[in-house]
Amino acid sequence: MNKVVRMDFQKFPVGMSCEITRAGSCGFVIFGASGDLAQRKLLPSLSLLFDKKIVPKNFFVVGFARTKMEDSDFREKIRKNMPGIHEDFLSRVHYVYGDYEDDGSYAALKMKIEELDSVYGTENNFIFCLAVPPALYGDITGKLVGNGVMKKGFSGKPFHRIMIEKPFGRDYRSAVALNEHLLGYLDDSQIFRVDHYLGKDTVQNILVFRFANSIFEPVWNSKCVEYVQINVSEELGVENRAGYFDNTGLIRDMLQNHMFQLLSLVAMEAPSSYDAESVRNEKQKVFDSIAPVDIDRIEDCFVRGQYTDGKYPAYRKEPGIGAMSCTETFFTAKLFIDNDRWRGIPFYLKAGKRLDRKETSISIVFKNNTTGIFGDFNISDLEKHTRNILTFKIQPEQGVTLRFQAKVPGLKRCLAPLNLEFDYIDLYGAEAAGDYASVILDCILGDQMLFWRRDGIESTWKFLTPVLKYWETCERGMHFYPAGSRGPEEADRFIERNGHSWIEEGD
Ligand code: BG6
Repeated sequence: MNKVVRMDFQKFPVGMSCEITRAGSCGFVIFGASGDLAQRKLLPSLSLLFDKKIVPKNFFVVGFARTKMEDSDFREKIRKNMPGIHEDFLSRVHYVYGDYEDDGSYAALKMKIEELDSVYGTENNFIFCLAVPPALYGDITGKLVGNGVMKKGFSGKPFHRIMIEKPFGRDYRSAVALNEHLLGYLDDSQIFRVDHYLGKDTVQNILVFRFANSIFEPVWNSKCVEYVQINVSEELGVENRAGYFDNTGLIRDMLQNHMFQLLSLVAMEAPSSYDAESVRNEKQKVFDSIAPVDIDRIEDCFVRGQYTDGKYPAYRKEPGIGAMSCTETFFTAKLFIDNDRWRGIPFYLKAGKRLDRKETSISIVFKNNTTGIFGDFNISDLEKHTRNILTFKIQPEQGVTLRFQAKVPGLKRCLAPLNLEFDYIDLYGAEAAGDYASVILDCILGDQMLFWRRDGIESTWKFLTPVLKYWETCERGMHFYPAGSRGPEEADRFIERNGHSWIEEGD
């Protein structure tokens, strides 16, 4: 365990520009309103935005789902899931039941939102959030537009927008087809492709850290960086999502979306300004520069794994999972970005379910400098302890750590690593608004900075599709690991073959 230097950070007053941009009037319609995402994330975030007066009184929510319920039943369900919820918010929550395929249900929805629009004065501004299985995205959008509930071109005043969760397609062709289908009905400026990782404060901090400070950019390149690691470890297994997950796997679930976004934020060039198009243009250049994987040598670039019996039962014994399932619950990837800044520098990505901890972090590992004049003074046996490492702690700990070398006090002549550490919660308390509140607010404001653009989705699927295809066959390269462990041993051998090692919390 490294010594940690707690910094006595001074919290400076924030300026006027730090005011929250408040949203205008809007009716928010949730498809799949009785599902997990709506109940666990969307409704609590909407209630938070309303309680904090970030959305105005001209605001209402409509839940739409197949279960037959009255407004009062739906409110009761929310009260049960969210004890302490404010009645003022709940009084604005309504419900329409219907079938996603049935035109009559869309007519009922249209009538209801038009009526609520005049009651709440929402000025014909609506967001339709599709918290439903991805197979329904295309049909629901078609029905919404076909039945006149949404209008193409309404992207300003008034606005009609859809919010779509990942996974957006399941390979390159299906992602292109879905984009084309949606763009047949709506303008791109009406389509908000959600990635809730972009709503996290610690993720938004990456660009601030890089581009609002002058001291990091000069060393942010292949001259000074040895490798980059992006780690998303989870303790949870598949929970109650067997049907979705077994058909998806962790590469589609985490890499194609959240982890590629993290990668782009670390690797991109400075955008010409801090707006949606400039930022997404720079991200796109990163996606386009990821070197394709040589499928004949896939084991050099990817390891996949699945949890077996350990602290928890095996994946194949989870309810709803097939006894011979070959879905991956773990992977590591080694990617290269073929541009002047990063050529030759490995980006290691690692993610897993049922690991020994929840930890999302990004580490920038700098080149070793202790082989020079202080080569003999180093007391650490571990090679990774001799490097400068900058770590963004995304969650559950939130902050930034910088490892550096210092002389050990006393008459001895030796060096030891120390960590400079900044912790958001220590400094600001638990101020985080929550990732979904942030993306919902931006959708109401019409700002697409925190959302995927069409080309990004397609480029990342283009890169991954051959890899996923190769692994459609079960027998190929599955490394098992005990549930609750660090992952398969092959993951360590994989990185060690390159003379590197995984950086972990507490190393
Ligand atoms: C979701 C994935 O997008 O992100 C889940 O579908 C995963 O499998 C979750 O558990 C992780 O989100 P967070 O915010 O808890 O890191």
